[in-house]
Amino acid sequence: MKLNLRFLYIFFILTVISCKSTAPFAYPLQKSAVADQGMIVTAHPLASDIGLEILKKGGNAVDAAIAVQYALAVVLPVAGNIGGGGFMVVRMADGTTNTLDFREKAPGKASRDMYLDDQKEVIPRLSIDGHLAAGVPGTVAGMAAAFDRYSQLKDFKTLIDPAIKLAQDGFAITQQQADGLNRSREAFIKLNTNTPAFVKKTAWKAGDLLIQTELAETLTRIRNQGTAGFYEGKTADLIVAEMKAGGGIISYQDLKDYEAIWRQPLESTYKEYTIISMPPPSSGGLALSQLLKMVAPYPLREYGFQSAEAIHVMAEAERRVYADRAMYLGDADFVTVPIRSLMNDAYLTNRMADFDPDKANDSRMIGAGLVTPVESEETTHFCVVDPAGNAVSLTTTLNGGYGSKTVVSGAGFLLNNEMDDFSAKPGVPNMFGLIGNEANAIEPGKRMLSSMTPTIVTKNNETYMVLGTPGGSTIITSVFQTILNVIEFDKPLSEAVSLGRFHHQWKPDAIQLDELIKLSPDVEKNLIQKGHHLKQRGNFGRVEAILKQADGRWEGAADVRGDDDARGF
Ligand code: GLY
Repeated sequence: MKLNLRFLYIFFILTVISCKSTAPFAYPLQKSAVADQGMIVTAHPLASDIGLEILKKGGNAVDAAIAVQYALAVVLPVAGNIGGGGFMVVRMADGTTNTLDFREKAPGKASRDMYLDDQKEVIPRLSIDGHLAAGVPGTVAGMAAAFDRYSQLKDFKTLIDPAIKLAQDGFAITQQQADGLNRSREAFIKLNTNTPAFVKKTAWKAGDLLIQTELAETLTRIRNQGTAGFYEGKTADLIVAEMKAGGGIISYQDLKDYEAIWRQPLESTYKEYTIISMPPPSSGGLALSQLLKMVAPYPLREYGFQSAEAIHVMAEAERRVYADRAMYLGDADFVTVPIRSLMNDAYLTNRMADFDPDKANDSRMIGAGLVTPVESEETTHFCVVDPAGNAVSLTTTLNGGYGSKTVVSGAGFLLNNEMDDFSAKPGVPNMFGLIGNEANAIEPGKRMLSSMTPTIVTKNNETYMVLGTPGGSTIITSVFQTILNVIEFDKPLSEAVSLGRFHHQWKPDAIQLDELIKLSPDVEKNLIQKGHHLKQRGNFGRVEAILKQADGRWEGAADVRGDDDARGF
C-alpha cells in the first residue's frame, strides 16, 4: 500500500512536470473588470498593469495614457510605437474636452505622384513596404505635449521607466505575437538593412523573451532629453542614416519641424448622448457622427440586434458615409473639409432620402471606385479613466502590422507605413480598399487621412463610455456598432465589444461579416433578397471600452479577439 502511494506520488509529480513543460505560455487575461476608482483597458496585460500602477501612484488618466503608450511601443511591436502616430481624446472631470493630433506627416520631399510609375500607375507596395512608406513619426511629440498640458505626476521618468525596463530585460511574448513575428520573418529580413530584434534563428514560440536593447537605448534618450532625444541628436542621426541606407526621404528638417497639434474635438449628439471624437485629419469622428445621425430616426431597438432591418439601415448609412469620406475628407490644415455641411441634419436626412427599407442601394449609383483585397489592419486602442473621473481615449498606429516592417538600425523601433493612408492616385484604393480623392492627395507636410475613432460618450454631462478600436477602414463601423450595442440593443459591455461585427464601406459593395458574427439563415436570406452582397472575412477590430454603470462604478471590457486586458482598482 505504502509503495503504491509512493508510486502514485511520483507519477503525479512527473505528470505535473511534464504538463508544465508542454503547456503553452499565456498571461492570465482579464477580459472584463468592474472597479470604483480607475480603469484601464489595453491590448496587452503588461501595458494595462503599468497604466494601473501609474494611477495608483496618483497619476491622472493622461499620465497613465503616456505610460501605456510607451509600454505598448515595447510589448506590442505590431502596433504600439514610437515610430508612428495617433490621436488622443481627453475629457477632464470638470467637463473640458480636448483632442491631440500626433498623426504622422508627409516628409518635405514627398510629392503627389511619388508612388506612381512613368505611366502614372500605382507601383504596387511602394507606399506599404520599407523606408519610402514612412511618414514623419508623431508619437514622441504627442506624448510630450500631453505631458506638458495635463500631467499630474509631473515626473516623466516614472512614466517611461517601466517601458525601458521591459525593453532592456525583455518580456515573454504571447502565442498571437509569436505567430505574428513568424509570419513577418521574411519581410523583416527583406526590408531591413540590419537584422532586427524581431528575427531569430528559430521560430518564435509563446513564452520566448523579446529583448529590445536598442529600443531601450532610444527610450532612455527620450527619458533624458525629452523630444530632443528623438527628433534631434543620436536618434535623428540614426533615422536619417536609415533613410539614406534604404532610399527613404525623412530628413533632419522633417524631424525638427514635427509638431503635435491640439484640436477642437468634434462633438455631436445621438439622442441624449454627446459623442466626443476626433476631427480631421481623422475621418473617424465625422463619419461616426454622420452614421449615428443617419440611423437615429429608425427604431433600431424595435428591429432588434443584428436583425435584417437593423443591419440593412446601418449598412446603407455606412455606404453613404464612406462615399462622402472618399470625396471630401483630408487634412483640414491643407484642404477645406466641409465639416458643418457633412454633419448638417438636413444634409443627412437628404442623404438617406433614397433609402429603401426593402432594397439595397447600388454603390455604383453613389460613386465610383475599384476594389483591392483588405490586408492587415493593425493599430491599437486603449482607454483610461482615473479616480477623479478624467478620461482618455487613445488610438495609436503604425498603420499595417509592424508598419513598414523597417526598423531604424541602432534605434530599435519600427517605422510606420502611414503614407499608404494618403490617396496615391485619386480613385485607386489603398490597402484597406479605401478610395481617396484630391482632398487626400500627398503634399509635403500634410497629414494623411485616418479612420481612427477614439471616442468618449457623455450622458447628463458625465463621462458615460470611453471606446475605440484598431481595424483600418473598419474602425468607424466597429465603434458605431459598439455604441449602438450598448445604447440601443442593451448588450452588456463585455458582449458589446466582442460580439461579431459587420462592415460596409461603399466600395467594395458588400456587407463584410467577421468570423464571430452569427446571423441566422433567415437574416442572411432577407439581406440577400434586399440585394446585399454578404462577404465573410477574417475578424476585424479589437474594441476596448469603459462604461459607467448605474451604480457609478466603472466597467472595463476588452475584446476577445486578442490579448487585450481590462483592469481596475
Ligand atoms: N492607419 C489607419 C488609420 O489611421 O486609419
